[in-house]
Amino acid sequence: MANLLSIADLPRDDIESILDLTDHFAEVNRRPIPKVPALRGRTVVSLFYEDSTRTRLSFETAAKRLGADTMTFTVGSSSVKKGESLRDTIQTIDAFGVHAFVVRHKSSGVPHQVTRWTDAAVVNAGDGWHEHPTQALLDTYTIRERFGALDGRHIAIVGDINHSRVARSDVAAFTALGARVTLVGPPTFLPPSLVGWPVDVSFDLDEVIESLDVCYLLRIQQERIDEALIPSLREYTAGYGLTTRRAARLREDALIMHPGPMNRGVEIAPEVADEPRSVITQQVANGVAVRMAVLFRLLGSESQLESMEQR
Ligand code: NCD
Repeated sequence: MANLLSIADLPRDDIESILDLTDHFAEVNRRPIPKVPALRGRTVVSLFYEDSTRTRLSFETAAKRLGADTMTFTVGSSSVKKGESLRDTIQTIDAFGVHAFVVRHKSSGVPHQVTRWTDAAVVNAGDGWHEHPTQALLDTYTIRERFGALDGRHIAIVGDINHSRVARSDVAAFTALGARVTLVGPPTFLPPSLVGWPVDVSFDLDEVIESLDVCYLLRIQQERIDEALIPSLREYTAGYGLTTRRAARLREDALIMHPGPMNRGVEIAPEVADEPRSVITQQVANGVAVRMAVLFRLLGSESQLESMEQR
């Protein structure tokens, strides 16, 4: 694997081998000193043109736990403010001698463009509405951790699907691993065409809730919406929020998931976010191990892994 740009590029075997490698790094993360020297001497740059809390910090944590050096680029305090182009920015950073770019941008396709301007590995950390592959890998890992496998499991992704890169990557990863996915939301939040989406659709959360193994909630991506797609937040919550009443109809062993940031009281009731079936913080924790696996797959060598296992 030279870059990680989209889940659509990964066959089932590749996804599973990243998840297997994640098990190894999850074990490293449980050690008193959660560090291995697997990427010593490598430099990982995080290049975030869009806001982030979880994704940026978890990539940086992952890189540091592998012994890599990290650089952070935040647009607000850079020469982008002086009009420097993306290409010049990449070539400038590349000149320092870096091994991986972790890129988030509000435009779809930017990580792919970056691969043309550098020989370093490029990881898509979220590009517009397009994809967020490491989020999908950590979500898949979290479900697999609980159920052993995704085959035959019924997963609903609920909410603002159309503006969500998480939904696009999750659908690709969940279905590649054999899950059945139902997209649930008001028609205005579903993509105008579902050609090529291997999913079922429902406009009624109450109709599917009892059959779910996983109820995956999404935030309304206000920053990507400039028209009134729902009558009001209150009506949205009444129709599509995971309220305490709805959560009571969800199976005892079902999982409640959310990529964060949550809008408590809108797509998920505050009590529901904190109840035992919610694995939202486990998703965040797994995010570090998954990103260690991804960075290692891109920059590490198998012999290093063997020597780490012998320790
Ligand atoms: C998501 C994102 O930025 O795509 N968050 C994340 O990375 N965990 C989802 C969102 O912003 O709602």
